[in-house]
Order: sequence, then C-alpha cells, then structure tokens
Amino acid sequence: MRTVLITGANRGIGLLLSRLYGERGDTIVYATCRRPDRANDLRSLSADSGGAVRVLQLDVTDGPSIAACVERVRNEAACIDLLINNAGILPGGVAAREPSSSAFGSLSAEAMLEVFRTNTIAPVTVSQAFAALLQAGDEPRIINVSSDAGSFSRSATGGSYAYPASKAALNFMTRCMAADLKDSGIVVAAVHPGFVRTDMGGPGAHNEPEETVPSLAEVIDRLSIEDTGGFYNWDGRPIPW
Ligand SMILES: NC(=O)c1ccc[n+]([C@@H]2O[C@H](COP(=O)([O-])OP(=O)(O)OC[C@H]3O[C@@H](n4cnc5c(N)ncnc54)[C@H](OP(=O)(O)O)[C@@H]3O)[C@@H](O)[C@H]2O)c1
Repeated sequence: MRTVLITGANRGIGLLLSRLYGERGDTIVYATCRRPDRANDLRSLSADSGGAVRVLQLDVTDGPSIAACVERVRNEAACIDLLINNAGILPGGVAAREPSSSAFGSLSAEAMLEVFRTNTIAPVTVSQAFAALLQAGDEPRIINVSSDAGSFSRSATGGSYAYPASKAALNFMTRCMAADLKDSGIVVAAVHPGFVRTDMGGPGAHNEPEETVPSLAEVIDRLSIEDTGGFYNWDGRPIPW
C-alpha cells in the first residue's frame, strides 16, 4: 500500500485530493485537519472509504500538533510516500481579501505574519517533522501547493502583498528543500492547482476543483527526481518563477 498525508483535508482542494487518493484502492490517506470534530464532509468520506481515508488532527502552525501527528502516523505506518502540503490561507478569500494582509495603508504585521506562518513556514516545518518517515517511503515526494500568484513573471504589477509574497517565498523554500533532500531521493516540487471555486477561490474562479485536481494528482504521480525543485501547473506545464 502507498501512504499519502494531506494537510488541510477537510474542505476545498485537500478534501478532493483525499477522495481521489482514497478511491485508488492501493493507497492509505492520512487526511489531516485542524478540527476533526467539525470536519463533517471529511469524516463521512472516511466512514465510506473502507479504511482508506483516516482522519488525523493537524494544525500546521502548531508545533505540538505536528509532533503528535507524526507520532500517530508512526504508530500505524512504516513510511509516508507522499506528503501534500495543501493547507493555506488567503484571509477573506479572493472575493473579499482582508485589507490587513492585502491593502497598502491597512497592512498589519500580525495579519501578514499569520499568512506567512501558514503558507510559507508550515510546509517546511511539517516536511521536516515527517522527513524520516518520507525517507523510508517508496519514491518519496513532498508537494507544496503554491500558486501562480507567487510567480514574479506572472505578477509583474505586485498585487496584494501577503498571499502572493507567501507563495513566492514558499517557492524559494521548495528550492531549498529540493537541494537538501535530493541525495535522500525525496522529490520536492511546488504546484499550482488552478484558479478553482473553493472557499478561497470564490464563485468567480475559473474552474471547479473536479476540472483541475484529478489532473494535478496525475502530474504529482509522474514527478521523478529529475523534476525536483520545479514549479508545475495542474496540467503539468512548468510555471516560470
Ligand atoms: N482555490 C484556488 O483558486 C487556489 C489557487 C492557487 C492556490 N491555491 C492553494 O491551494 C491550497 C488549498 O486551497 P483551497 O482553495 O482548497 O482553500 P480553502 O477551501 O480555503 O481550504 C483551505 C484549507 O487549509 C486549511 N488550513 C488553513 N490553515 C490551517 C492550519 N493552520 N492548519 C491546518 N489546516 C489549515 C483549512 O482548514 P480550516 O477549515 O480549519 O480553516 C482548509 O482545509 C492552498 O494552499 C491555496 O493557497 C488555491
């Protein structure tokens, strides 16, 4: 059996990824979220999955929560083959961005730091905590769910401060981890899932998650060590930094 761990699995892209991997028949999914007691959709997915989707508590910005999650996985599994750092925030969503992290004149250090804590720092601390389990995995990989909003060449006008900057910094962290983990055989890549209609993307986004996320999962499957350190669109095309 393959083992996949997904962060932010209770809604949006993370929930769909959990379903897609859980349906494969050869994969155990550790579907993690901050509040399992409130994660009704994920708990019903898990209940219908015949044991393939297992719900675990994980707040990616909380050190003790990360340590407890590693321990629980270690008690059940010898390894993790794929870690998807999917959890992310854009306060207010695309449709109603909160000015405290997006509008010059209203910016607050604490609001912007929260975006960086979740989108940039957490994927690294979570990956670090699961590194030993990943090293024991089969063709292991770490996928950081980034955004094309973090591409300098695509966001030439700057944009809305904390969110795109946090994803640009995540892309750099992806390069750092890719270099450090290459000799261990762990592929590390950043991906853009498309502009999709989730709570974050809002109703004006271009695609339903079902239109892009299944292709994204196939792209993730195909990545090899030659692709490490790259930034890929949901359809597999490389995205310029
Ligand atoms: N939607 C798009 O168009 C789009 C485009 C480009 C990139 N992305 C990226 O794709 C990823 C998923 O986005 P989405 O559209 O599915 O967003 P979403 O519907 O807003 O879901 C975000 C998920 O992240 C979780 N999360 C936030 N902070 C967390 C924390 N500290 N610990 C654990 N989980 C946390 C949320 O959990 P709670 O329910 O507990 O808040 C939720 O499960 C994000 O990284 C986002 O930046 C999305």
